Amino acid sequence: MGESGSGKSITGFSILGLVDPPGRIVEGSIDFEGRDLVGMSEEERRALRGNRIAMIFQDPSMTLNPVLRIDTQMIETVLAHRSIPEAQARRIARDALEKVGIPSPDERLKAYPYELSGGMRQRVAIAIALLNQPRLIIADEPTTALDVSIQGQILHEVRTLCRQTGTALIWITHDLAVVAGLADRIAVMYAGRIVETGTTAEIIERPLHPYTRGLIASVPSRATRGHRLKPIRGMTPSLIHLPKGCAFKDRCDRTIAACDEAPPSTVLPGGRTLRCWNPAP
Ligand SMILES: Nc1ncnc2c1ncn2[C@@H]1O[C@H](COP(=O)(O)OP(=O)(O)OP(=O)(O)O)[C@@H](O)[C@H]1O
Ligand SMILES: [Mg+2]
Repeated sequence: MGESGSGKSITGFSILGLVDPPGRIVEGSIDFEGRDLVGMSEEERRALRGNRIAMIFQDPSMTLNPVLRIDTQMIETVLAHRSIPEAQARRIARDALEKVGIPSPDERLKAYPYELSGGMRQRVAIAIALLNQPRLIIADEPTTALDVSIQGQILHEVRTLCRQTGTALIWITHDLAVVAGLADRIAVMYAGRIVETGTTAEIIERPLHPYTRGLIASVPSRATRGHRLKPIRGMTPSLIHLPKGCAFKDRCDRTIAACDEAPPSTVLPGGRTLRCWNPAP
């Protein structure tokens, strides 16, 4: 979770090895099923992508080829990773469309992307991500553009699916209400870095980083009814001109002298991580 420009999408792209040069991973490792994805060959990565790891992009046109019919694209995705008869691949494609709530899936299979509405296209992109029963789905705000009832339906669908199959899900969002109902753990991002992680209950009930606190304080709830909400002052810094030291320093009301140095990420007892010199009590 994090606001626009905090680095959520780039984190998802990095996991999949989709960062275009001159962008690159400068340090760290990405552990997946006991293997480090950093330093893996492009060929090995390609075998994982769309198969063991699938991404649902913020914009469905990143997934869909505009000049191919939906069935062609879906069947191709299945057959790229499995040797099964085409008729069986078509059935898998049809079932996937049904799972994400697309009415008359047999007809939709024959459509081109431009013949579908935006919401329908995003659902097709989600269905494509589910095709090969990945072990990890990275969903980059896939429901932001959809209306609330469809958003709820898709969240429910994805969650059920993950529970049934044991698939791990990284759900990228700026919407606290969405993560609160969906996630087991939350990682809060600010200015390109994860500043705090913990279980959903820990983050929502006892946020430690002043930024997370600010975020939670700015969400309206029944308890805030009749009171003014407390926004975080100032603006998100440009990643090109980050303040020296802690990137949140200029907007924080708990700043101390130590904040002139960038805080390291520390692991707290119980497994939460935090990047702050003077966390909330
Ligand atoms: N750790 C980082 N190192 C280098 N560049 C970064 C880092 N994090 C983010 N950026 C750059 O910052 C910009 C914004 O990041 P990104 O698109 O990931 O934001 P986002 O959180 O997905 O925002 P939105 O909610 O608007 O989609 C990108 O151009 C990205 O390349
Ligand atoms: Mg993004």
